[in-house]
Amino acid sequence: MAATLIDGKAFAAKVRGQVAEHVARLKEEHGITPGLAVVLVGEDPASQVYVRSKGKQTVEVGMNSVEHKLDADTSEADLLAVVEQLNNDPSIHGILVQLPLPKHMNEDLVINSIAPEKDVDGFHISNVGLLGTGQKSMVPCTPLGCLMMLRDHHGSLSGMDAVVIGRSNIVGKPMAQLLLGDSCTVTIAHSRTKDLPDVVRRADIVVAAVGRPEMVPGDWIKEGATVIDVGINRIERDGKTKLVGDVDFASAAERAGAITPVPGGVGPMTIACLLANTVTAACRAHG
Ligand code: GUN
Repeated sequence: MAATLIDGKAFAAKVRGQVAEHVARLKEEHGITPGLAVVLVGEDPASQVYVRSKGKQTVEVGMNSVEHKLDADTSEADLLAVVEQLNNDPSIHGILVQLPLPKHMNEDLVINSIAPEKDVDGFHISNVGLLGTGQKSMVPCTPLGCLMMLRDHHGSLSGMDAVVIGRSNIVGKPMAQLLLGDSCTVTIAHSRTKDLPDVVRRADIVVAAVGRPEMVPGDWIKEGATVIDVGINRIERDGKTKLVGDVDFASAAERAGAITPVPGGVGPMTIACLLANTVTAACRAHG
């Protein structure tokens, strides 16, 4: 393997350490304990795993964790009432409604009912607009984690050619905005992109966020490029369940200058950034 491994697990531990120090200072000097509320509707197994992990890590850094678990057939009005109550609770600084929501709910409506200053996911339309215009906002956790790893590895990203594969509201679009904010030349590629291999071969930075196992082969990667793999795909191989990214790691690592592994790359950074966003929200709430 030629590439340097970007260790998201170690980086996330460092971020959590910094968050814990910040939380301790807020408690000591201002008597504030940041609080994060997570709302889970239904019993999606992957969502349950994420929510448990979020709650555990929130408590580990010294913050208060509140979980609201609602039945899958909860009405949208009842969910909106829970969000409203959290919006009005001064002990809660961050609110996260776990996605996806059941089909009978309007996700946009629910997300936009969260007070923007408590929207630690950065999905509220106000935060999307603030990010898009380069203003102070809540930044979505996964793209923020990717940006932190890229900055840590490169220092300045100015002038680099970046391609983001995937145009989701959660990762692709905010990732592109963040890279643009750091003065990259950004291409957003997607399922209709003509000649995707050629687009990827021109990039100094490749962020893959499509959710398709190992769809980016190594021979698409420019020699020395930095590869950030956001995909977390569960596949069966040799009779075993395995987690793989959107990039074929073995062949990409032969050509990349640096690459994130799956697992242990972007994944751990997402929750670390959620905790960091919650501390930021608590600081802003108390001036
Ligand atoms: N479901 C998958 N990823 C996310 C995320 O980052 N935030 C929320 N709220 N739901 C998710």
